[in-house]
Amino acid sequence: MSEPIVLGIESTCDETAAAIVQGRTLLSNVVASSMEEHARYGGVIPEIASRAHAEAFVPCVSKALADANMTLADVDAIAVSAGPGLAGCLAVGVSGAKALAWAANKPIYGINHVIGHIAVTQLQFGAFPPDTLALIVSGGHTSLLHVEDMPRTIGVVGTTLDDAAGECFDKVARLLGFPYPGGPHIDRHAQHGDPHAIKVPMGLTQGKAGAAHPYDFSFSGVKTAVARWVEGEQALGHEIPVDDVCASLADSVATVLARKAMKGCEQYGSGTLIVGGGFSANSQLRAKLLEYGERYGVDVRIPQIKLCTDNGAMVAMLGVNLVEAGVAPSAPDFPIDSAMPLTKVSM
Ligand code: KG4
Ligand code: ZN
Repeated sequence: MSEPIVLGIESTCDETAAAIVQGRTLLSNVVASSMEEHARYGGVIPEIASRAHAEAFVPCVSKALADANMTLADVDAIAVSAGPGLAGCLAVGVSGAKALAWAANKPIYGINHVIGHIAVTQLQFGAFPPDTLALIVSGGHTSLLHVEDMPRTIGVVGTTLDDAAGECFDKVARLLGFPYPGGPHIDRHAQHGDPHAIKVPMGLTQGKAGAAHPYDFSFSGVKTAVARWVEGEQALGHEIPVDDVCASLADSVATVLARKAMKGCEQYGSGTLIVGGGFSANSQLRAKLLEYGERYGVDVRIPQIKLCTDNGAMVAMLGVNLVEAGVAPSAPDFPIDSAMPLTKVSM
């Protein structure tokens, strides 16, 4: 099998998605989002998301196959996100994928969604050089991984001790009155603000804690500091300089992420930094990482926006890696794992 063809299916949160990848080529990519249905509740409602997945599953898979000019018989394997994610949502995607695999007699891989976020960069930039470092910044994860040998050997270099960058942005956004998900609103306002207007702490970089956790992340204190500042100004009857608050927060978070990632590259002798996850759509982070990459001689690979947010291409791409590496498919009765650890690439 020279270039495996894999159908990838994604349903961890509020996107139902399906895509077909052949080798490193994306043949189709279909995404249906239930985000608007959650906006008025200020966050994803699992039951609403699960129902949306049940409705969108067949149309998404059918369109992904049709767009690639294929039927299920043409694919070599099916890959589906088995975790981490919302249990009810995962159950819909995994049950559907298993039914397809059984009906078409195809191997199936239950894959790790977070690892998919880094795998997807191969569609744009090609295979990983050995000893690549990866920065994952999704809604629930901020982690640095050492990709020794994709998809077999991936080590955790650092991870978030409390709030992830995405969570921190979403919570501050809520305080500022932006609708869910707030991250993109902070991004937009930050573009018009002064990043040095307000002093925002640099999460887990200072003092003993910073020294003890050079590659770990913590953005809970950052969120609290911004919240206190905003509340203090409100108490004084001052108008909140929203653009400046957003710019200062975004600059602090982006700088911490870029600094720790570069330090990790140095430590692991990596000339390449892969970036993945929904938060990598953030323009302040993208600019900061590219700036630091240039300064430290690191090739920073950030995917185009549509491949940053949840999609089926990331799942299919990781599926291709597993097929190519000769990794055994998942057992037909593999379970979902809503807390799937980063060290587990497939079930
Ligand atoms: O990876 P993802 O789509 O979902 C998870 O798997 O968690 O990431 C979603 C996160 C949310 O916190 C959202 O606010 C954030 O990514 N996000 C952004 C931007 N676009 C999405 N945060 C900041 N700036 C953006 N442009
Ligand atoms: Zn994701």
